[in-house]
Amino acid sequence: MRIFKKISDIQSYLQIQKDKGLSVGFVPTMGALHKGHLSLLETCKTACDMGVVSIFVNPTQFNDKKDLEKYPRTIEKDITLLVNAGCDVLFYPEVEEMYPNGEITRIYDLKALENLFEGAFRPGHFQGVCQVVDKLFSIVQPQAVFFGQKDYQQCMVIKRLIDTTPAFGSIEMTIVPTMRETNGLAMSSRNARLSEEEKQLAPTIYQTLLFLKGALKAGPMAGIKEAATLKLNERRFITDYVGIADAYTLEPVDDWDGQKPLVALIAAFLGPVRLIDNLVIA
Ligand code: PAJ
Repeated sequence: MRIFKKISDIQSYLQIQKDKGLSVGFVPTMGALHKGHLSLLETCKTACDMGVVSIFVNPTQFNDKKDLEKYPRTIEKDITLLVNAGCDVLFYPEVEEMYPNGEITRIYDLKALENLFEGAFRPGHFQGVCQVVDKLFSIVQPQAVFFGQKDYQQCMVIKRLIDTTPAFGSIEMTIVPTMRETNGLAMSSRNARLSEEEKQLAPTIYQTLLFLKGALKAGPMAGIKEAATLKLNERRFITDYVGIADAYTLEPVDDWDGQKPLVALIAAFLGPVRLIDNLVIA
């Protein structure tokens, strides 16, 4: 695996590969890698000749500076995992390399996606995500990119970034299903911060998503979200939101025709750890 820290170096190397006719797939991450991240790389490697992964803890998407400081950094372990998974190129830049002239560049028009759900609880988060993903896409210029369904709203934001940026028009985006523990808990680097007792309670989020799905298929929506919130509260979760929304626009839905695809979304604290998960209901 080649490791690059400088933009010009990775660009020259990738240009040579592209000139040879090799297709380049890209998986952006913030490191602290787990099987969820590796499933994106695996999918990438089946679709493309070269798998490029980036590890960059992006300061502009953290509205809470403490969260940024606490973000796990495990680069040695990450490198071993990437080598074993057959990663071809790792891009691992410093903050100064990515933001030499400070932080604000372009304001992204994300419509309703900006202020709903994660956007409401993490002001500025998706602007920061777009800013870094825009830069990364421009550096790597991949044919295909891979994002996890785990961060459903992020996927819709990236889809919009691609659709509204002419230079990204030819990029093919794949959404890879959420990797879960056998008990249903969505894999996340934050899970490591759960106590033993909290780990027992954590799968309640997925169980609650399954409850929402069953209840939606069974009948009217009235009271469903409240019942789901109660289930979570009974198991010590403090919820930011329990949402049922249009799967594409993420506009909340109060009355379902049983036809259009929906997504059920949950964000909740368990002790000090904020967990998110979702389930698409087609
Ligand atoms: P990060 O949280 O490191 O996630 C990198 C990618 O891994 C994202 O596409 C995320 O959805 C995916 N992922 C995380 N857990 C997963 C799981 N259990 N199953 C499947 N995929 C999973 O998301 C980010 O970084 C950043 O916002 C980034 C896009 C890199 C921009 O900084």
